Amino acid sequence: MAYLAPSILSADFTRIEEAVKTIEEGGADFLHVDIMDGHFVPNLTFGPQLVASLKQKTALPLDVHLMVEHPRQFVPMFQEAGADWISIHLEATAHIHKDITQIKELGCKAGIALNPATPIHLMNDIIRELDYVLIMTVNPGWGAQKFVDTTLAKISNLKNWIKGQKLEILIEVDGGIKYDNLQEIALAGADILVVGSGIFKSPEPLDMVKKMKELLKEADSS
Ligand code: DX5
Ligand code: ZN
Repeated sequence: MAYLAPSILSADFTRIEEAVKTIEEGGADFLHVDIMDGHFVPNLTFGPQLVASLKQKTALPLDVHLMVEHPRQFVPMFQEAGADWISIHLEATAHIHKDITQIKELGCKAGIALNPATPIHLMNDIIRELDYVLIMTVNPGWGAQKFVDTTLAKISNLKNWIKGQKLEILIEVDGGIKYDNLQEIALAGADILVVGSGIFKSPEPLDMVKKMKELLKEADSS
C-alpha cells in the first residue's frame, strides 16, 4: 500500500505540534519537511533547528526535501537534526553522484527530486544508487499550486523503468495532490504521496488524513 506523507509547509506554524499530532493520529506514514533556500527556489522556509524540534515530537520518519543550491553543505546539518530520508534536486547540483553518496554514508535514505520538466532519463547512470525518486508535480517553491498534468505519464514511465530493471526504488510524488486526484496518482505508480494544503487547509485535517489513507488502501486492492 502506498504511504501518505503530509507536508508541514501548509500547517499553521503557531500550532505546529498540534499539526504533527493530528497527522499521527490519522495514520500518516511520514512527515514531509520542505527546505527552501531563497536561491534554488525564491521562497525561504525552515532550517535544521525546526527539524531537530520536530524529531523530539514525533516518531514518524522525517522526510526532508531539500530545495537548495549546494546541497552538500546542508545535508550533514539536516542528518544531525534527525532527517531520516533526504532528497536533493538534480537541477541543483553538478555533482549528483557525490552528493547522493554523501547522504547514504550519513545513514539516510537518499533520493533525487526532479522538477516537472526534468526528464527521468537524466538519472540513467545513478538510478541504481537511489532509495527513492521524488517526482515534483508542481514547480517547487510553494504549497497549494495546481498539479501539472504532464507529470502523470512521467510517474508511470518511471514505474515501468524501475520494474523493468527489477530495482527496489520508491517513487514519491509531491505537489498539487488532493483527495480528488490521490487515487489516480497512486495507480500511476506513486509509492509515497506528499500532501500539504490538501490536508492542512481542509476543514478537518484529521478526517482528511484518515480518508486519504482509506483511498490508498482501496487503490492497493483494485
Ligand atoms: C512544494 C513542496 C511541496 C508542498 C506541497 O515546493 O515541495 O512539498 O508542500 O504542497 P501542496 O500539497 O499544497 O501542493
Ligand atoms: Zn516537498
